[in-house]
Amino acid sequence: MGKNKIKTKLIHNGIDTVKNYGSLSDPLYKSSTLIFKDYKEYLLAKKNKFSKPYYGRLGSYNTKRLEKIMSELYQSESCVITSSGLSAITLTLVSFLEKGSECLITQNCYEPVYNFATQNLVKFGVKVKFFENNNLKNFTKLITKKTKIIYLESPGSMNYEVEDLEKIIKIAKQKNIITVFDNTWATFLGFNPLKWGVDIVIESATKYISGHSDNFCGIIACSYNNYLKIKSTATKYGDYVHSDSCVTAIRGLRTLETRMNQHSKNAKVVYNFLNKNKIVKDIIFLPDKKNKNHNLWKKYFSLSNGLITFSILKKKDISFFLDNLKLFKIGFSWGGFESLIIPVNNLSPVVKSYKNSVFWFRIHVGLESSTDLIDDLKKGFLEYEK
Ligand SMILES: Cc1ncc(COP(=O)(O)O)c(C=O)c1O
Repeated sequence: MGKNKIKTKLIHNGIDTVKNYGSLSDPLYKSSTLIFKDYKEYLLAKKNKFSKPYYGRLGSYNTKRLEKIMSELYQSESCVITSSGLSAITLTLVSFLEKGSECLITQNCYEPVYNFATQNLVKFGVKVKFFENNNLKNFTKLITKKTKIIYLESPGSMNYEVEDLEKIIKIAKQKNIITVFDNTWATFLGFNPLKWGVDIVIESATKYISGHSDNFCGIIACSYNNYLKIKSTATKYGDYVHSDSCVTAIRGLRTLETRMNQHSKNAKVVYNFLNKNKIVKDIIFLPDKKNKNHNLWKKYFSLSNGLITFSILKKKDISFFLDNLKLFKIGFSWGGFESLIIPVNNLSPVVKSYKNSVFWFRIHVGLESSTDLIDDLKKGFLEYEK
């Protein structure tokens, strides 16, 4: 994409307006059937079904455009686009794991990854082990000749634990193990794990890239060989991403940097408010210098986002707090324009660290006025403490 700054690149990743009747935005290609000019072209497409127009389920013009844009942004050889962030993860894992092989997964993974690994991968005869971040002695002990994949997610879901990637990659390379990294928290703007030697990077474009809580899309940035393996699995499993999802993700990319900056600014204001509030017991927020992962986070990540996890002292039913919030809506996911809150039972799917004296919540700080967001939390705490 030339030498322009990333912000300019993201704005100017447009289509050819001349060829597309002056249209600045991407036209939507909806066909399930793609037509071949003649028999020769049909045979060629059969041979190159991932690169030539073949059948709508395997991709449209819009899918190909998003593949190309994301490969450029991650500076990867290739990119697979899938129906969701979770399908990007599961399709990648099943592409490389087989009966008898072993998979090491961070214990701070997104909970559905834990569920898939412990309930589905094991059914195929894959041995799944979870590792504690930055306990390299134990980590090394878990590796055997059968270990095929090391699955990483940083900062981890709910607890934002950060892995010391440099050390993990060194071990993985020595032992010839494929590394897979969920980069949804930072997006390509905040971190490029490929530059640190990771083999396959996954992002749920459902979150910050699309940015408006109206889309599902998964991104897998990798080498061409790995692309062929994963794309072939996705085809066999019938994974399908609608052209509209790709167009929505491309649109989201244009405002991503501006939104991310605002999410992180607002989150800092909300963090300062929470930090001063007596009812708040713990706060997990990476820009907080007291956070145990702060320095490691600084080592790898160049931006922050809108996620904060915190706990409040148990006083009465949490509905007194949650139901008195007007701007922080109760709902899953994050990365959209709006503020969200969700009660958290466990900070990790593996380590049950729930304290009886507190209630945990994860908030996603949206793009509203930060003063209004603070007033909203104030009102919720007031009703809860009455
Ligand atoms: C870290 C992380 N990875 C992956 C996913 C899955 O993404 P999707 O909702 O697009 O399936 C999520 C969803 O919350 C997530 O938080």
